[in-house]
Amino acid sequence: MLPGPALLLGALLWRLAAAGDEELPTAVNITWSSINFKTILQWQPKPSGYFYTVEIHGRTSDVKRKCILTSETECDVTDALRNVKETYTAHILSVKPAEMDNFEEPPFAVSEKFTPYSQTVIGKPEIKNYSQDGSKLNVVFNDPLTPYVFPNGSFQSIQDIFQHDLEYKLYYWKDQSSGKKDITTKSHNFEVSVDSGKNYCFYVQGIIPSRRENRNGQESMVLCTSVGRNILDEYGTEVFIILAVIAVVVITLAIVLPVVLCKRKKAKRARAVREKELLNGV
Ligand SMILES: *[C@@H]1O[C@H](CO)[C@@H](O)[C@H](O)[C@H]1NC(C)=O
Ligand SMILES: *[C@@H]1O[C@H](CO)[C@@H](O)[C@H](O)[C@H]1NC(C)=O
Ligand SMILES: *[C@@H]1O[C@H](CO)[C@@H](O)[C@H](O)[C@H]1NC(C)=O
Repeated sequence: MLPGPALLLGALLWRLAAAGDEELPTAVNITWSSINFKTILQWQPKPSGYFYTVEIHGRTSDVKRKCILTSETECDVTDALRNVKETYTAHILSVKPAEMDNFEEPPFAVSEKFTPYSQTVIGKPEIKNYSQDGSKLNVVFNDPLTPYVFPNGSFQSIQDIFQHDLEYKLYYWKDQSSGKKDITTKSHNFEVSVDSGKNYCFYVQGIIPSRRENRNGQESMVLCTSVGRNILDEYGTEVFIILAVIAVVVITLAIVLPVVLCKRKKAKRARAVREKELLNGV
């Protein structure tokens, strides 16, 4: 009756080994962060004694492996999501170094679904230049670039990818006022009518009206024109104050100096008269 206990022991060892595998932590808190189609996958916890490997699964595409045996907790998966209208999930495998050649599936965690076309955030447009000529405000901006390239090697902009789904809005308002107006374009410049001689402030934002979430992109920086500025605004109040102080000093000197000189002369004359009186009289 030897095989019995031996089998039992074997089974026990097998269970222990398997339990060892089960203990390998799998990724939690998996998040996709994506701006202008550059997409980073992040998760927790920091591994110790094992590695992570990321697998990108698409509905129609082959599984792509990224960041193989990494000890980081993030992975740039931009390359694997080139088919931007596809919906992807990521499997984050927890792998022991010794199991590299093992045929057994390592434990893994599954991310939420991610579709770059409908979920990547529209980044802030960069304002190239602007001018205000009379009652015309012109604003020219750059369409943000994506990490993806055309066959000729030049980077595709977000508009190259979104095409007519993407529009840009210019928000503009008279400096110091709160009444904001906006105008929409599908090109890369705006021309709006404004009150001439008044300063305007504005920013540009990309928008995808067909989206249910993340419709509005990041806002560009706010810029203001400076047509209506007087000399004081142009050169700053400090310069104005310095000029004023100098003027006051000059004027004061101009008034005070003759008075002082005159008083001295008078005093001299008075002394002379008194000296004469002293000599003549008493
Ligand atoms: C996951 O996120 C939650 C909330 O943000 C946090 O409390 C938790 O510690 C995270 N898990 C790990 C393993 O870091
Ligand atoms: C933008 O700059 C170019 C040259 O620097 C100039 O020719 C063009 O008129 C400018 N556009 C606007 C709207 O100011
Ligand atoms: C590359 O190709 C794209 C689209 O075919 C085109 O819009 C772009 O101007 C080209 N760039 C260069 C540098 O030839």
